[in-house]
Amino acid sequence: MKLFLDTAIYEEIQQAVSWGVIDGVTTNPTLIAKAGHDHEEQVKRICQIIGNVSAEVVSEKADDMIVEGRRLAAWHKNVIVKVPLTTEGLAAGKVLAGEGIRINVTLCFSVNQALLAAAIGAYIVSPFAGRLDDINEDGMRVVADIVAAYRQQEIKTKVLAASIRNPMHVTQAALAGADIGTMPFGVLKMLFLHPLTEAGQKKFLEDYRQARAASGSKADGGTRAQPDERGEYRKTQEAKSVPPVRSEAAAKR
Ligand code: E4P
Repeated sequence: MKLFLDTAIYEEIQQAVSWGVIDGVTTNPTLIAKAGHDHEEQVKRICQIIGNVSAEVVSEKADDMIVEGRRLAAWHKNVIVKVPLTTEGLAAGKVLAGEGIRINVTLCFSVNQALLAAAIGAYIVSPFAGRLDDINEDGMRVVADIVAAYRQQEIKTKVLAASIRNPMHVTQAALAGADIGTMPFGVLKMLFLHPLTEAGQKKFLEDYRQARAASGSKADGGTRAQPDERGEYRKTQEAKSVPPVRSEAAAKR
């Protein structure tokens, strides 16, 4: 499952890109409003650093969505045009998909809606798991059912698990077979965390430093400096005005 970031905040995207773990970004009108920048300017800026950037139309009529969708797609080759799962949105999506524009059908909440998205040739369908959970339905069950129906029907539209609210959603989306999971920056950061990783890394470094210190003390009576102590060591040597200790390799020559 590819990991996407669900945000329009440039700094968050830049940070996640630097970690090398994300393959795309999803935005929606709410996220664009939160980021507080001009829509076009912000989407173009995001497209400079990452591919697969969903940008959503805000028109209500199919004809207007088509015009708007063409404009969004022209902003950058990385743009995927997002249309809502309404009659107007799907009609517009069908025309845009026919022109070779990648379409993400958003606001999907059922298998039947996902079949409609596939019927218009959508590149992506976005079932909103968290919002289903919010109304006491099993959002990840719907994601899993869409994946199963698409496999059964040999449908190529990618399933993007959206409205992810926590790390468990990410695991569940992957196990359900979703092609993509999009998540807020806070959830992405949580994926890295495990107490055993933190404790294990701390112990590895402690053990390594202790072993180095012990081998150093055998070789030169404890006066040899370790890499992270060299600054202090040099200062001490200069103060004493004695020549620096030769390296182990040089000593053997
Ligand atoms: C992404 O494409 C969706 O717009 C987003 O995941 C919705 O998330 P929310 O339900 O937390 O607003």
